[in-house]
Amino acid sequence: MMAPVVPPIKCQGIKTKIVRAIRSLQSNNVAGRWIEPFCGSCVVPFSIRPERALLCDSNEHIVRLYTDVQLGKITSGAVEEYLAEQGARLKARGEDVFYEIRDEFNRHPNSLAFLFLNRACFNGVMRFNRKGKFNVPFCRKPGRFARPYITKITNQVKTCAGILRAVDWEFRHDDFRNTLAFASEGDFVYADPPYAGRHVDYYNSWSEHDERDLATALKRLPCRFVLSTWYRNKYRTNPSVETDWRASEFTINTFEHFYHVGPTENLRNSMTEALISNFAGVVADQKKTKIAQPGLFDSLGTDAVDTGASSKQAAPGASPAGAGTDGCSGL
Ligand SMILES: C[S@@+](CC[C@H](N)C(=O)[O-])C[C@H]1O[C@@H](n2cnc3c(N)ncnc32)[C@H](O)[C@@H]1O
Repeated sequence: MMAPVVPPIKCQGIKTKIVRAIRSLQSNNVAGRWIEPFCGSCVVPFSIRPERALLCDSNEHIVRLYTDVQLGKITSGAVEEYLAEQGARLKARGEDVFYEIRDEFNRHPNSLAFLFLNRACFNGVMRFNRKGKFNVPFCRKPGRFARPYITKITNQVKTCAGILRAVDWEFRHDDFRNTLAFASEGDFVYADPPYAGRHVDYYNSWSEHDERDLATALKRLPCRFVLSTWYRNKYRTNPSVETDWRASEFTINTFEHFYHVGPTENLRNSMTEALISNFAGVVADQKKTKIAQPGLFDSLGTDAVDTGASSKQAAPGASPAGAGTDGCSGL
């Protein structure tokens, strides 16, 4: 199976490591549109490459970036030039340059600055304060934009631009409630909402009210869906899995996921994630992988390691099994 396409932007909860599982669940071709109400980095659609898609997010910066790439307003050449120029200034003058670009972006948002900040900030995360201003600090590496790193990002933009030329995708800045109302028979919805209380910021606040609205809207869909959510951590099981997603009505595939919150093995915290679908399906085994997890919101600088066991269907309350993970940064 093809490796995931690494997108040019990184975000919390990026699903690079479970693209394979999602792809295996969606084994029948989608007759209609692939719909993602929480598209984030878009690693899933870029990797699965449905012919037609509706990709939405409440974060307008993400939507602007991909729309700019799609319309050719931003080319890989323009990205290379911008990163080389700003990277040279950063190397010469240090972090002041990062904060100047951040201030300017917060006054006049634009895609090139967004990409620069996302790839030069601490842990490669995306966080906005209550007023919607990007507020992640500098990664403290003035030499960040060395030639190989610029080439890597430029190639990621080039790959995504090439895919966008070959497909019929629409990007929209919208709330999930509106996006899901567009779904019709034959479409396929992949929903990956923020996990409540995990990465809270301007674009990722997620309340019980949102959780309920999402469950209601998903249950009303006239098409198949897969929902990503957390299933169990060290302390408790996700109450919404037990209340909203009964194993008698929905298929629940679970994945064990380990977070390193410190330097030693005994500080590992396990989290079981779930893919819940309204159709039967068992996900493919996950490969053993080691990834970096941006943990700015939990504790500065955490890692995640995937254990690499296989996945299985589980009823809520059954012991977790399987492997898989989400995570990102530095790719
Ligand atoms: C877990 S991330 C999605 C990650 C994505 N699947 C990936 O692999 O990169 C959740 C996304 O939901 C978006 N979001 C949060 N609240 C939303 C809402 N009410 N409507 C639409 N999008 C929302 C956030 O901006 C964020 O990009």
